[in-house]
Amino acid sequence: MTVVGVGPGDPNMLTLKGREAIEGADLVVGFKTVLDVVAGRTGRAEVRPMAYRDQEAVLDYAQEQARQGKRCVVCVWGDLNVSAKELLNRVRRRAESVELIPGVSSIQFACARAGISLEESLFLTLHQRWDRGSELGELVDTLNRDRRNVILLPRPFDFMPPAIAANAITDGADPSHPVVVFQRLTLPDEQRWDGTLAQLAPVTDEFSDLSIMVFPRTGDDAD
Ligand SMILES: C[S@@+](CC[C@H](N)C(=O)[O-])C[C@H]1O[C@@H](n2cnc3c(N)ncnc32)[C@H](O)[C@@H]1O
Repeated sequence: MTVVGVGPGDPNMLTLKGREAIEGADLVVGFKTVLDVVAGRTGRAEVRPMAYRDQEAVLDYAQEQARQGKRCVVCVWGDLNVSAKELLNRVRRRAESVELIPGVSSIQFACARAGISLEESLFLTLHQRWDRGSELGELVDTLNRDRRNVILLPRPFDFMPPAIAANAITDGADPSHPVVVFQRLTLPDEQRWDGTLAQLAPVTDEFSDLSIMVFPRTGDDAD
């Protein structure tokens, strides 16, 4: 089985290698929104969309097809090394060897738009761990030390940017710390919100499930 990262939404961000794997596949599976990115590229492959509730059954089917010698591709959003561990582990449990074809991550676009580099940043996701406390503690700690930028994936829709900003202030972050929220990066309706933690906390507009927060460091040696 092969896992392909399809990029952050713009179909033109699919890599040539990923495209080759999808075009040569017998079976292509993935969440529906992910498959929409590669629509029209799946050639003669059978295409099976999955949802959270039936993902185990769809992956079981893919495993069965792979055992019969079929080329199966599991598509994941963005890059497969970024906040996609659960799905990756589900595939790994079903195949002796899994080929991984990384893709372009939404966090790379967030860095490019914000003008920051990954090596000067801390990446946190509220998606995976239920123990949010430790991620949020690290957020406030890093903001207060101001040595790194923070790139953070909110958790749709129960812990979104305004709640995260309010929480950071309560936990001792400077309310005037700058924050940028990128929504739907690379898609035609991409948006950017700029302000401070204090300005973000009371915002009542709904943010997209495709949102990334960037907290740029502000120190003297910040770029
Ligand atoms: C489960 S994570 C998977 C990330 C993906 N593997 C990647 O590399 O982009 C999904 C989260 O990534 C972020 N995300 C993914 N694509 C995005 C985009 N185009 N614009 C903004 N945020 C995005 C959002 O925070 C979203 O809730």
